Amino acid sequence: MAASAQSIAPGSMEVRPLTGALGCEIFGVDLANISTAEFAAIHQAFLDYSAVMFHDQILTQEQFADFGKRFAKLEDEPFLPHRADVPGVYYLRGAPKNAKTVSTQNLGWHADHTYQRNPSMGAMLYAREVPAAGGDTLFASNYLSYENLSPAMQAFLEDKIAIHDVLQYGLNSGHHSTATIAAIDMLRGMRTKFPQVEHPLICRHPETGRKMLYLNQAWTVGIKGLTRDESEAVLTMLKRHSTRDIFCCRFRYRSNSLMLWDNRAVQHSPNSDYTGGRLMWRVALHSDWEPGK
Ligand SMILES: [Fe+2]
Repeated sequence: MAASAQSIAPGSMEVRPLTGALGCEIFGVDLANISTAEFAAIHQAFLDYSAVMFHDQILTQEQFADFGKRFAKLEDEPFLPHRADVPGVYYLRGAPKNAKTVSTQNLGWHADHTYQRNPSMGAMLYAREVPAAGGDTLFASNYLSYENLSPAMQAFLEDKIAIHDVLQYGLNSGHHSTATIAAIDMLRGMRTKFPQVEHPLICRHPETGRKMLYLNQAWTVGIKGLTRDESEAVLTMLKRHSTRDIFCCRFRYRSNSLMLWDNRAVQHSPNSDYTGGRLMWRVALHSDWEPGK
């Protein structure tokens, strides 16, 4: 369990658990210059805590990308149009400075790229400009949501297959809720590129071997073999269950904070509750893992 794990970090590195559910902060390490032993400890914390934050990091885009490539090759971001100078790095911009209203671009709970046969291993955000307050990211543990289902529900779900669909993004998110022609055209293009895929609702994490409830609020749209009413009722229950407070943690960014998460083991929810400007650098970490295989 994340809460009981203690730092095994080398040198002055310190791993501090954030909650009893998941999440940690790592101090005493310079990500521009990490040793093999330090990376091994960071990787272990990534697996143990699922969401890891570092503070006070000074990185060039090359160094940020290189840190990501210690984990995996970097993958394209279908929804992010703003590529940075270094391949694999994207700009993620929030509300404009001095905006009067809170951004409506709130995707809510999701996991990245589960509408692909091979969802991302993880992602990293490096905070370059942060608002005075707001813009936190919340994470929910897929391990805990599975472990806290009743044995009867675990048994019912054991062989169930879920359908993931990129179109759900348009239905659920604030980005395209106005359903403009441009938004519909964009979503149609996304659907052509990413047909529906099937992932088991219960699967094991490919590295930790722990069982997980594998669904997310954005892209999971149905359960094979159930009627529409049955599928909707079960998914509504599971989606509510999977983000219960006791399975969650919440991170606040400072300028030069770096957030790293295991996209296989968590859902995340980026809050758009800020009005000042924000700029993040982002990379997605590729995985060849196909859930359930
Ligand atoms: Fe995301």
